[in-house]
Amino acid sequence: MSAGGRFEEFRFPRGFLWGAATAAHQIEGDNRASDWWAAEERGLLPHRSGRACDHLRRYEEDFDLARAFGHNAHRLSLEWSRLEPEPGRRDPAAFDHYARVLDALRERGLEPVATLHHFTSPRWFAERGGWLAADALDRFAAHVEAVVDRLGPGIRWWITVNEPTVLAKHGWVTGDWPPFRRGRWDLALRILHRLCAAHRRAYRRIRALRPRALVSFAHSIPWIEPCDPRRPLDRLAARLRTRFLVDLAFDFVRENGRLLLDYVAVNYYTRSVVRWRPRGRALLFGADCLEPHHGARRFDDLGQELCPEGLLAVLRRCARLGLPILITENGIATTDDALRLAHLRGHLEALARALGEGIDLRGYLHWSLFDNFEWAKGTTARFGLAETDFATLERRPRPAMHMLAEVARSGRLAPVASGEVTAA
Ligand code: FCB
Repeated sequence: MSAGGRFEEFRFPRGFLWGAATAAHQIEGDNRASDWWAAEERGLLPHRSGRACDHLRRYEEDFDLARAFGHNAHRLSLEWSRLEPEPGRRDPAAFDHYARVLDALRERGLEPVATLHHFTSPRWFAERGGWLAADALDRFAAHVEAVVDRLGPGIRWWITVNEPTVLAKHGWVTGDWPPFRRGRWDLALRILHRLCAAHRRAYRRIRALRPRALVSFAHSIPWIEPCDPRRPLDRLAARLRTRFLVDLAFDFVRENGRLLLDYVAVNYYTRSVVRWRPRGRALLFGADCLEPHHGARRFDDLGQELCPEGLLAVLRRCARLGLPILITENGIATTDDALRLAHLRGHLEALARALGEGIDLRGYLHWSLFDNFEWAKGTTARFGLAETDFATLERRPRPAMHMLAEVARSGRLAPVASGEVTAA
């Protein structure tokens, strides 16, 4: 699996960020004051996060693991519901905790990439109407200000909100995530707009308080292609979907034409192949017009196609925005080590090619450090560089973790004869 063409040895630039991406609810455990926990308790979700990976208590060992495998960066989220468990009441113990977490990263030479909102919200925020409440943006802005004030000095890379299109889709269209609304395209669009407005306010606050900060939102960007490129309606479908799922959020974070972003934070997993079907709005967010098993390709446990050349295509397209790019998520749900190695190798080649073309790519954060609580899929989707044994909570590095370590340490991606993808 490669991103196309023969591959020569490649040297990554000095200072390139290598690491893994995580999110609080998926690994910390006991995220009791969050809307997700509330929904889990009420039986509205198929799985309960419980102690998850117990990262809350094990973060030092986890960061030791990241360092031992050559990482020099780490994406984490600072859980709002811990920091502000009741409206306006900030918990000093939670702020101290995250201060220690950030220190632990720094002590190990791991550059933090901090997310302020990764899908979960405080329970009280959700109960008061969530992102649609009249004061939602003020509430979030006040929270951001408190975090930047207290934890900001050690953080350069910020992510305001994670994947606004994905949250809008699951919460308001497919309805499998809180607040479980189905088919509410109108609200999904409003949510998308609000999350982008929340980003803009956070952007301005962070930059005012910390002028050297680099601020973005993490955008889920699939590579969207027409099923039959010769059919104008398939091409139109692909263009519309790209416009809605990718470009709209970028439009919504503009102010007077200027993008309020210091870099583009790309979460890339797969390609979507789109065929025109006269089903109106399903074309935009829905799965009905997707051709999930198009071509003789390989797929992960979630049915996502392994498509490294899609990453290259996405990077080329994002480069047109004229900003540096950081890959803030990329990974595969599988327990098949050979497939995971092929995935990683292919995507590393895509990075090399992008850099070789002069694209200003600053780093690669793999999703994820170890298997975690994968939202509505629970622990069934295995994205870890290390396997998590959920009985003992032991983390066991997989071959791909060794492969990434070798590249991160040496800064070199050696050529491999085709088909000979092996662990380092
Ligand atoms: C992304 C999410 C992340 C994780 C990966 C697999 O959409 O940002 O939390 O669930 O998918």
